[in-house]
Amino acid sequence: MRDVVLNILLDNLGHFVSGEDISRQLGITRAAVWKYIKLLQSQGYPIESSTKKGYCLRQVPDILDDALLLRGLDTSVLGRKMEIHSSIGSTNARAKELALNGAPEGTVVIADEQVQGRGRLGRSWISPPGKGIWMSVVLRPRLFPQQASRITIMTAVAVANALKRSAQIEVGIKWPNDIVCGGKKLCGILNEVHAEPQVIHYAVVGIGLNVNFSQEDLPDSIKDLATSLKIEKDKEFCRVDIIRAILQEMEKSYLQRLNNDRFTELLKEYEAHSVILGKRVRVIGIGSELSGYAEGFGEDGSLILRLDDGRLETILAGDVSIRGESSYV
Ligand code: BTN
Repeated sequence: MRDVVLNILLDNLGHFVSGEDISRQLGITRAAVWKYIKLLQSQGYPIESSTKKGYCLRQVPDILDDALLLRGLDTSVLGRKMEIHSSIGSTNARAKELALNGAPEGTVVIADEQVQGRGRLGRSWISPPGKGIWMSVVLRPRLFPQQASRITIMTAVAVANALKRSAQIEVGIKWPNDIVCGGKKLCGILNEVHAEPQVIHYAVVGIGLNVNFSQEDLPDSIKDLATSLKIEKDKEFCRVDIIRAILQEMEKSYLQRLNNDRFTELLKEYEAHSVILGKRVRVIGIGSELSGYAEGFGEDGSLILRLDDGRLETILAGDVSIRGESSYV
């Protein structure tokens, strides 16, 4: 009932609806309507109440609420089951737990805050409350394990398209999994796969997107490397709109473009966003480093590097990070 009251207010965003109208529509007393209004106000919804005019939701707040998220989410698989936490260790860890226990494909875990957010290569991921999108999606792709990097490629393109649509921002992709803007990292993707030699049981793809950090909010350790939508666009964003756009873009790519014939098309889009293609990069592995020109990307999501002696080397995303000649990108 609370969600229905909220939806009536959202349908009339910025306008008053009388308590009587709501109570008539829902077949509940005006006192009951008032109870739900008070509940919504206590949860952070800026609802104005007037004895004469009724109730008015002034604006959509930046609250991670499934009623808000599901409104207008036209996906058929992704986000149909959703778990939202105010605080959690890691959404990837939780999604893996759910996947192991048979959660359906498309299950989404979102948190306002992560206290043990994880990045690639065993790094931690800074995820304070209200500042970003910390989200993981359970997928059960029909791919061979050696094609698992396609999921990262697909997600990176989906995030780039979603950001263009929902935040009017053009971003680049730094192989394998970083979304960058102005030479700094805006978003990271962590694709964790549970597989046997011939089959992927599930993949959990985690997205960490810096949304409402201001420059001062960024910890010193990442100040020079990271950015946020707020820093780039000089305004705050409503995370729900962006999450919805990401899930919609991801579903489109996931259902239609992950398998062989259409993947080439997706790869072209990935290349068009690439900030390293044709550039000289350093590939830093555990105890080794290679330099060369980023020449292209393979069907398995690998990086094709032209070494100084002219040979081509195929680099798998696994354990490497990439740097520009003298900078992050
Ligand atoms: C990276 O660039 O190193 C990947 C960062 C991925 C962070 C996200 S936040 C949501 C999900 N849960 C985690 O613990 N990590 C991913």
